[in-house]
Amino acid sequence: MKKLLKDIEREAIGQIREANQDKELETLKRTYLGRKGKISKLLKSIGRLPPGERAAVGLMANEVKQNITRQFQLKSLPLRKKTSSKLNQKIDISLPGILPDIGRLHPLTQITDEIAAIFLRLGFRLVEGPEVETEYYNFQALNMPINHPSRETFHTFYTTDNFLLRSQTSTVQIRIMQKQRPPVAVIAPGKVFRPDATDASHSFMFHQIEGLLVDKDVTFSDLKGSLTTFCRQMFGGETRMRFRPHYFPFTEPSVEIDISCMICGGKGCRVCSQKGWLEILGAGMVNPAVFEAVGYNPEEVTGFAFGMGIERIAMLKYGIDDIRMFFENDMRFLEQF
Ligand code: PHE
Repeated sequence: MKKLLKDIEREAIGQIREANQDKELETLKRTYLGRKGKISKLLKSIGRLPPGERAAVGLMANEVKQNITRQFQLKSLPLRKKTSSKLNQKIDISLPGILPDIGRLHPLTQITDEIAAIFLRLGFRLVEGPEVETEYYNFQALNMPINHPSRETFHTFYTTDNFLLRSQTSTVQIRIMQKQRPPVAVIAPGKVFRPDATDASHSFMFHQIEGLLVDKDVTFSDLKGSLTTFCRQMFGGETRMRFRPHYFPFTEPSVEIDISCMICGGKGCRVCSQKGWLEILGAGMVNPAVFEAVGYNPEEVTGFAFGMGIERIAMLKYGIDDIRMFFENDMRFLEQF
């Protein structure tokens, strides 16, 4: 038994010295020191020795085990050095690097830019107006006198007397026309505020983009042409449109515009609630009362206006089903755009 141990020791040390790859050493380690290795096997048979010899053989087996272990240690140090000196440098260039977080535009900003780009190509100019407004710009000048029932639809946050957070970007129509003589062709993106309870499709703050075109002889055909061009560029050339009669105090006649659902192509699906159509904007011919409020002569000029919700367009375009996603600053959501 003792001779057997010595033989194993000699054999092991020889093989370890010759090994020159980490993998080889691993295999040798298993062969000699592993749970099913040569030494373990031998130790198991100690029980069959006469009781007097067991202790001495056990002792020796442990010694042999230690010697072999030391050989492994001696060997593996220089081996590692050799491998890394092959790369001839101290830094392990095979490790993945640390990527810096690169910022990006918020999905709503991206969609706003996309919408704006289409209208800029059509000759519109980009303008902005204040978020804190007076009642006059949010209501009176837009043909909604005090106590007019249509104010209900544009529920408003009031700050101090007569000041409010605008509930629509139509305010900017008035501000631009007061400053500029016709022709006018502008779009005005921005935040609007309505005291709605928050849920998957409502938020007390959201974004709209307003459009206004005023000139001599502007007709409903111009409205139709411009908005059809917009929808096809935004949602694809196959998009069909539907104009439904509607009511807005500041346009007459007024329409709501639906597009054929870009998810199912009009067949009916979850996104369009099986209707095949999606409502995307309100529009109409500027009401003469609005021209009068800003000092334009309704006998000389006509125009059209439109307004759309930016979140709604982003939700349709990307298949997002909860408006709150835009405002929670969850990187897992934002990183997808
Ligand atoms: N301001 C209207 C709204 O918020 C949209 C609109 C704008 C309709 C311009 C017609 C013309 O619902």
